[in-house]
Amino acid sequence: MSGGPAHLLTTLFMAAAAMGYRHASDLDATPRTTVTFDELSGVRRFNAHTLNYSTLLLEDERGILYVGARGAIFALNSSDVADGSHHTIHWEASPEKQMDCLQKGKNNKTECFNHVRFLQRLNSTHLYACGTYAFHPLCATIDANRFVLPSHFEEGKEKCPYDPARGYTGLIVDGGLYTATRYEFRSLPDIRRNLHQRPLKTEESPLHWLNDAEFVTSVLVRESKDSPVGDDDKIYYFFMERAGEETTSFFDKSQVARVARVARVCKSDVGGKKILQRKWTSFMKARLVCYIPYYEVLRSVCSLDGGGWASTVFYATFTLSAQWRTMEASAVCRYNISAVQRAFEGPYMEYQDWARKWSRYDGAVPEPRPGSCITDHSRRKGYNSSQDLPNSVLDFVKLHPLMFEEVKPAGEEPLLVKKNVAYSQLAVDRVQALDGCSYDVLFMGTGDGWIHKAVVVNSVIHIVEEVQVFRDLQPVESLVISRIQRSLYVGAASGIVQMPLASCARYTSCYDCILARDPYCAWDGRACRTITTTDRTGLVQDIQSGNKGCWSGSGRGSLPWKNRTVLQGDDVLLPCDQRSNLARAVWLLNGSEVLGTGQDRLRVGVDGLLVTDTLPQHSGEYRCYGEEQGLRTLLAAYSLTVLPELPRSPTVAPSPHAASQATNDMKVAYISAIVTLVVLCTVLSIILLYMSCLEKRKGKYVLGEPRPASVELQTVSANCLRKGHREEEEEELTYPDGCLRIIPGEAPTAATSPVKELPVAVPPLPPPLPAELTNGVGALPNVLRKMNGNSYMLLQQQEEPLASPLYSASFTEELSKILEKRKHTQLVEKLDESSV
Ligand SMILES: *[C@@H]1O[C@H](CO)[C@@H](O)[C@H](O)[C@H]1NC(C)=O
Ligand SMILES: *[C@@H]1O[C@H](CO)[C@@H](O)[C@H](O)[C@H]1NC(C)=O
Ligand SMILES: *[C@@H]1O[C@H](CO)[C@@H](O)[C@H](O)[C@H]1NC(C)=O
Ligand SMILES: *[C@@H]1O[C@H](CO)[C@@H](O)[C@H](O)[C@H]1NC(C)=O
Ligand SMILES: *[C@@H]1O[C@H](CO)[C@@H](O)[C@H](O)[C@H]1NC(C)=O
Ligand SMILES: *[C@@H]1O[C@H](CO)[C@@H](O)[C@H](O)[C@H]1NC(C)=O
Ligand SMILES: *[C@@H]1O[C@H](CO)[C@@H](O)[C@H](O)[C@H]1NC(C)=O
Ligand SMILES: *[C@@H]1O[C@H](CO)[C@@H](O)[C@H](O)[C@H]1NC(C)=O
Repeated sequence: MSGGPAHLLTTLFMAAAAMGYRHASDLDATPRTTVTFDELSGVRRFNAHTLNYSTLLLEDERGILYVGARGAIFALNSSDVADGSHHTIHWEASPEKQMDCLQKGKNNKTECFNHVRFLQRLNSTHLYACGTYAFHPLCATIDANRFVLPSHFEEGKEKCPYDPARGYTGLIVDGGLYTATRYEFRSLPDIRRNLHQRPLKTEESPLHWLNDAEFVTSVLVRESKDSPVGDDDKIYYFFMERAGEETTSFFDKSQVARVARVARVCKSDVGGKKILQRKWTSFMKARLVCYIPYYEVLRSVCSLDGGGWASTVFYATFTLSAQWRTMEASAVCRYNISAVQRAFEGPYMEYQDWARKWSRYDGAVPEPRPGSCITDHSRRKGYNSSQDLPNSVLDFVKLHPLMFEEVKPAGEEPLLVKKNVAYSQLAVDRVQALDGCSYDVLFMGTGDGWIHKAVVVNSVIHIVEEVQVFRDLQPVESLVISRIQRSLYVGAASGIVQMPLASCARYTSCYDCILARDPYCAWDGRACRTITTTDRTGLVQDIQSGNKGCWSGSGRGSLPWKNRTVLQGDDVLLPCDQRSNLARAVWLLNGSEVLGTGQDRLRVGVDGLLVTDTLPQHSGEYRCYGEEQGLRTLLAAYSLTVLPELPRSPTVAPSPHAASQATNDMKVAYISAIVTLVVLCTVLSIILLYMSCLEKRKGKYVLGEPRPASVELQTVSANCLRKGHREEEEEELTYPDGCLRIIPGEAPTAATSPVKELPVAVPPLPPPLPAELTNGVGALPNVLRKMNGNSYMLLQQQEEPLASPLYSASFTEELSKILEKRKHTQLVEKLDESSV
């Protein structure tokens, strides 16, 4: 493993190509919009004085969300988890058990607690819960109405893992408790059935059916319903385990590969009579593949049945295997249940002792087919239960748990391969859109507290948005969807977040609404709103292509023009914020497109157009559009005037200070300019306070953090920055937008401001805000930059998502670089004198 992430990536791409997949970048998708924690609205949060809110049980009809956390179980109102009406069961591990736990050498900060890991409904009146209880698991039957801890507990060691971090899954199906984990440190992983007349386990000899398995999820599929063959209900298990068979891993054969598996058991299995007594007779497992072998770590699975078990699909997320720990990437795959069934109906694998490996079994297979559930066919032959099965079948089952065929994703390809993201959880909803089609909407939780919402359109994923639901980096540990509340509940270490499935109001224009391709949202002529099943007339939506249905003029509404006036040679930034990460910025100057690349003085960036070293011919009308899916939306319009020089004024002598800071070729122009502009500077004398602060940093320029920020820059002629006392009547600004101003407003968040460490004095009350600048400019300056002949003032700077990779090549960064470069080439000594 050498060569760094770039090398690894190349290797992965080559591997993908070699295996006939599309290039990973074709399978990647960029979230269309980014909603950071601070921009998030409409969410509700719940947390109490504990941690690890990881076990969720939603009872949608009852309107209750139960939450199993560390040392507590909560019953929250699902319509508003934050409404304060919650009920709590405190269920802490006893001090003695905690002492025991400490003595076993466990961590007293994370492990020696009662982590509630199982929470399900047992019957109409009771819930069943299990907790790790400081490495001494206990279970409890809880009266759901009274919601208090019972006086009597059950031993939990066969139902719940000791270790709070151990992979675990559990379900209650028709009164039976089906759990799978490695219960104790020394025990083998096991799929068990408890709370049942016929408790069952997996077989351990002569072969282990499970090999160091780490469980992810289990899913009940009611395959007995309307079954023409009298089939049984099945429980599917998704897990990782050490592979005994030959794997397709072609790089590192020395390493024992861990692979993803799907296994299943039949609900009516009661074990064998003599052989496989109290063991599953219906256990079968198969390899689950998604993408190239490196995406091998199964993280989450969810199932969706579209109104009949035969249409069940499983969605699964995978991340890169541990040896690629220097980088993060995820793959998302979809599996039809028919593909899983096909594998279980195919050939078996057999372990060859002499070769010490698994390979395809081609010998005779006894009847009824080993591992299958009891069906009408077997009943007709007199096999009414698994206890009636012949020894030959049970012996075969014992030795052939693994299937030869792999379960491949639908389309034999992942839906998504996403770089720099580790999807830790996913949940899926199926939405009937206006076009009559149903679309699967995936909510994927990341390892750092974000939710990606995506829609699957013709086997291609479009990520509608990425939303930062937790400020602190933490993996999303559970996700549950409520159709009734139209909410998504997100469980993580620090708490529970309830967010709406859709925030359609975030899309402010018809184009924005259509381009979002959010199946929950449609444009009703005035606003983007959530569609309901009942009233769907007069609404516009286009999930398939995301660009049709809006009136052609609706994207080109008139925006107020903003005037910018600068002096020749100044730099000017015309800000234009692209709300969509998928949009391309298009700038028109006097109606024809500005091509940022060809002209070295014009640079089109993600947050605006930068014109450096302006010339008079740069004057004109600039319009900024966002172009997406062939649609153009007007986002900003500027009228730029570049003045060749400032008008002369004969009354004042040239200022030596200013002259010294001008570049030689500009000297004469500036000297005369100063003469005129000194009067303007009375207004701006306040800035001197800043300047005096900055003076301490003489010759040193703070260019701001080269990191994402949305910046409103105003261009300023240095000539304005002159100390002087002039007559009041001369104070009127000749070029009102040409000079620097301090804009009143709220100060940026001190804690997050990148310039917090600067010794900037609190400014006195600034002069009133010129009308044309009020648009979007609301913050006090927090960085003042002074350059040779040009001063830049950062008038607005907002925190941007640090976690988002989308802004990595920020325009601001580029601007900083340009400024830095110019500083080095044009810096004149004693620069600050003019401001003293
Ligand atoms: C949840 O809150 C809603 C609105 O406040 C209320 O109508 C409902 O009865 C509450 N549900 C429960 C289960 O308390
Ligand atoms: C946990 O253990 C450490 C060292 O063993 C000790 O310093 C600390 O006080 C303990 N914390 C608690 C909450 O018991
Ligand atoms: C539910 O189970 C509990 C515990 O086994 C039992 O006490 C209770 O009677 C059951 N309720 C119903 C309605 O069967
Ligand atoms: C519980 O939360 C703490 C704090 O975030 C974390 O360190 C720990 O790993 C979590 N434990 C489990 C079992 O999730
Ligand atoms: C299976 O059940 C049928 C009817 O329920 C019964 O006639 C038959 O004897 C049973 N067979 C066995 C082997 O128990
Ligand atoms: C998966 O199921 C869907 C619909 O249920 C079907 O259209 C598709 O062809 C199936 N794909 C495979 C590979 O079986
Ligand atoms: C744009 O039009 C204005 C007048 O409307 C003209 O002064 C200016 O030179 C034009 N700019 C360019 C680059 O064509
Ligand atoms: C911009 O300047 C034009 C003429 O130069 C003027 O008509 C318009 O009102 C100005 N716009 C603003 C917002 O000041």
